[in-house]
Amino acid sequence: MHSSPDFPQRLFSADGEAERALDARVSDIISRFLEDTRVNTEVGFDTLSAGFTSTLAPTEPEADADYLEHLERDVVTHAIHTASPYFLGHMTSALPYFTRPLSRLVSALNQNVVKVETAKSLTPSERQTLAMLHRLVFARDESFYTEHVQNRRSTLGMVTSGGTVANTTALWVARNGSLGPQGDFAGIEREGLAAALEHRGARRAVLIGSSLMHYSLQKAADVLGLGTQNVRQVAVDARSRMKTDDLRRVVEDCRRHREHIVAIVGVAGTTDSGAIDPLEDIAQVAREAGTHFHVDAAWGGPILFSDTHRDKLRGIERADSVTIDGHKQLYVPMGLGMVLLKDPRAAGSIEKQAPYIIRAGSPDLGRRSLEGSRPAAILYLHAALHLLGRQGYARLIDEGIRKTRYLADVLGARPEFELMAEPDMNILNYRYLPPALREAAREGALGPEQDAQLNRFNERLQEAQSSAGRTFVSRTTLRHTRHGQDRPLTVLRAVLANPLTAEHHIDAMLEDQLRIAATLETTEVMG
Ligand SMILES: Cc1ncc(COP(=O)(O)O)c(C=O)c1O
Repeated sequence: MHSSPDFPQRLFSADGEAERALDARVSDIISRFLEDTRVNTEVGFDTLSAGFTSTLAPTEPEADADYLEHLERDVVTHAIHTASPYFLGHMTSALPYFTRPLSRLVSALNQNVVKVETAKSLTPSERQTLAMLHRLVFARDESFYTEHVQNRRSTLGMVTSGGTVANTTALWVARNGSLGPQGDFAGIEREGLAAALEHRGARRAVLIGSSLMHYSLQKAADVLGLGTQNVRQVAVDARSRMKTDDLRRVVEDCRRHREHIVAIVGVAGTTDSGAIDPLEDIAQVAREAGTHFHVDAAWGGPILFSDTHRDKLRGIERADSVTIDGHKQLYVPMGLGMVLLKDPRAAGSIEKQAPYIIRAGSPDLGRRSLEGSRPAAILYLHAALHLLGRQGYARLIDEGIRKTRYLADVLGARPEFELMAEPDMNILNYRYLPPALREAAREGALGPEQDAQLNRFNERLQEAQSSAGRTFVSRTTLRHTRHGQDRPLTVLRAVLANPLTAEHHIDAMLEDQLRIAATLETTEVMG
């Protein structure tokens, strides 16, 4: 059939029949996938990878149906069921139904949001959607938004592919803004970092944040020429929140050593524990130091929708820039992040132009985005803000935090587990305590050898649970807990953001964990 003269052009036409047939098949695959609540298959990753080693692209085109069959068998079947109510370990979860049909629309429109010539309506729509998030964070008055929502000379933020690029973009703005043109000096953008530091009489440029900042800020420090050694890490307390007294000391040290502070970063929802840094205090330190204040709210930003919990982020409105991820707690598909800028002119320091698009003064969004060609992923958020509304998001946030409380209470009441700290929002760290170590753990009398034993056990427990595939939590290492500082402890990490997860799923996950732990204890004794 592929030898016909209209091949492959035929594949591009919108005649409908082949597409409808394929679409029906894909819908069946999606239904089968979403109805299966198992988290994972039992096939190990290395075994699976061995089936993906042929590297010659097929010469002959395959028939749609054949392709779909092996796609489902080899790929879809082994995809992780992030939507499963038993998948409680990562920041990826079920999505609202409307994102699936809308993903067809996004790919059918195939807009490239880098420029108006390939994204006419999507350009103002992206700006409007960003402005809604800006308003959620900064709550400026109506006239501010009227002035800036579609003003091509300013911007309320940039859309990115995720939190990493959003954080990098924020620090790019901070770096260029703080080392801009001055007298004869043309600014870092044109002269580079070495010249900028020399001009300021600074020895290096640094970034300050807690030791629990996301590793994307290390990437940003690298890409922006700061160097990862120049990320100054401030200690956290036993609840994983930045210690602001230590922050003041670090800022003072930087001043004494002639280090230029590009930005101070506060985290609203750390990746490991969901902890919220004391944003108001950090804002104050940043103001006194005259430096850019960035809040990484990739995870926690949407808490602002909740009247009950938004106060936890008090101080975020004083930030110069804020990262929020769409593909986390805004429940849109992978590939959407945002950086919001308090000052609508701040992105002027990174603006670029080209003669064929993104010309000076044009409304093209590519003038200020790190990425070039970009999909209209904002459409998912545009839809979600309309179809869920602020009220819908508020309920999702409230429910996630309520279920986290439920899990914390269950863990607190069971001798088999130790809750590491009270949660700030909806990520919880805990560990399993084998019977022999329970009492010592309760009394805070564990020595280094017992720590190591517990760490190994929880590591094995998490791995065994993951490969059994029925339920899932992740794990991390905490260095500062109520057991002391600089004492690395392996802990289990539950993320409660999936709206499909109910209390009975949480109970089942813990029962699964207890069963696996009992088996491990037996094999350990036997071994
Ligand atoms: C607090 C925080 N910031 C930034 C990121 C990076 O986001 P992304 O993976 O979308 O690049 C994450 C991801 O987990 C995060 O938890």
